[in-house]
Amino acid sequence: MSGSCGLGSRYFCTASRGLEQLLREEVRRKLSASEVEQVAGKVFFTADADLKKLKSLKCAERLFLLVKKLPPIQMPRHKGKGVCLLKNCVIGESSKWLDVVAKWQTLQDFSKEQGCTSDRTETGIKRPRLQENSGTRKRPKLELDEPTTTIHNGSPTGQHDLHSVIQESCQSKAPMQAPPSPDELLNSKDRDAASCMHFRVSCRCSGRIARMFTSQELGRAIGIALGRQMGWKAELRNPMLEVYVHLSDIHCVVGIPIARLPLASRDYIKNAGLRSTVAWAMAYLGDIKAGSLVLDPMCGLGTILLEAAKEWPNAYYHGIDNTFSQLQMASANVCFAKLSNNIDLTRASVTELPLLNESIDVVICDIPFGKKFKISQDTKTVMPNILKEMVRVLQVNGTLVLLLSQELSLDIQQWQKPKSHPSDKGKLNAQQNTDTTPVGPSTHLAENVDMEHMSVTENEQSEVKREVLASLVSTGIFQVSLGVTEASIHRFKKISIT
Ligand SMILES: C[S@@+](CC[C@H](N)C(=O)[O-])C[C@H]1O[C@@H](n2cnc3c(N)ncnc32)[C@H](O)[C@@H]1O
Repeated sequence: MSGSCGLGSRYFCTASRGLEQLLREEVRRKLSASEVEQVAGKVFFTADADLKKLKSLKCAERLFLLVKKLPPIQMPRHKGKGVCLLKNCVIGESSKWLDVVAKWQTLQDFSKEQGCTSDRTETGIKRPRLQENSGTRKRPKLELDEPTTTIHNGSPTGQHDLHSVIQESCQSKAPMQAPPSPDELLNSKDRDAASCMHFRVSCRCSGRIARMFTSQELGRAIGIALGRQMGWKAELRNPMLEVYVHLSDIHCVVGIPIARLPLASRDYIKNAGLRSTVAWAMAYLGDIKAGSLVLDPMCGLGTILLEAAKEWPNAYYHGIDNTFSQLQMASANVCFAKLSNNIDLTRASVTELPLLNESIDVVICDIPFGKKFKISQDTKTVMPNILKEMVRVLQVNGTLVLLLSQELSLDIQQWQKPKSHPSDKGKLNAQQNTDTTPVGPSTHLAENVDMEHMSVTENEQSEVKREVLASLVSTGIFQVSLGVTEASIHRFKKISIT
């Protein structure tokens, strides 16, 4: 069985704010989806794809089979009448539910046939060697002061640990309750089969409706009504089926998640760093090709490299960080994801990269900011040197992708503007900006950035900024949500200045 539902089914994905456009492109590209429609935080589409393909979506938070999508419900003043109206709108005809649940079941059957699938892709590509300024340089090794961890390619102990973790994670998954078969469900007369279904309703309300009801109130009311109508049993802790209801000022959406875990919680990441969907989006914007050399010079736990190497395995990845503990966890991540053949890690500073001039095709970097990495005044001098070094190692026509705080993002944009327009600061457009004006670096940076070798005079700093400005062309700005904070992804092309 292919696991595909034959005729296309209607799905929707939830996405972090700002990633909807990229998700739209992804569903079109990977699933050949049609009728693709984007609203804030969601993308709706029709596709005829099996579960494996559906699960290959990397920009989505969660994926659902669509039960129904309605315009926002106009609530009467009377609360009781409101609940009645909602129940009618959200639930509707039984045949629709049986149809969608049967499709959901087909996908579950396919999943069972595949067994417990840990991602074991080994790519084993041949990697080009990086050169140092003088002569041939060996494959970069992690230079560690501390004697404990083997970073490259995983030690035998590392492999063993990895294997047991995968086994453990497979074994620890609670067995799903076996739902009735699609045929049983499709036969609407077969109430016995339907009554085997254990379900729960997860309701989310926002906007006007949230001022009248709590999500729990409505979830409970809808759950009771749906259970009665379909003969299903409520099971809050370990249901076979979850029904998701989102009521907002934009629409009323009802769906069934196709997998228990969100797509965004990757089974190949051991230590979570940057939000996986954002890391994937940055890699996507890097325009990585087969054979590309990709660098993350402040790689932290390596999330961007992991996301990139899983999706574009025929490229070569290099992670640099100046903090030993970060690299240790990055190394564990690389081993766990079985990507030791694709990703190298090195301990060095972003301001002194042990790499040749113009040796890298794509630089992707999550510049530190936020609660964990606070901004201080002292760091104003750092960013020009960081960007200068990134530009130095980047090839002409290479791509630079940076994740910046809103503050850094605005600073960078102000750099290209005359100082007489400070009021423009608040007008940053949240949407993609295809402006191709050369831009310069920000004047703020995170506190934990290594400040050694970074004190330069104002004049030197201006000179560095000028240099950087001359080599970079902005090719897009994407505002994204990191949950509690907002950030911006900036993309640049390096141009020749000769
Ligand atoms: C925001 S974190 C990166 C998080 C990463 N994207 C992840 O998913 O884990 C920034 C990283 O920059 C590193 N860092 C700070 N100063 C540095 C420097 N001068 N050179 C290299 N890395 C540095 C920190 O150790 C930290 O791991």
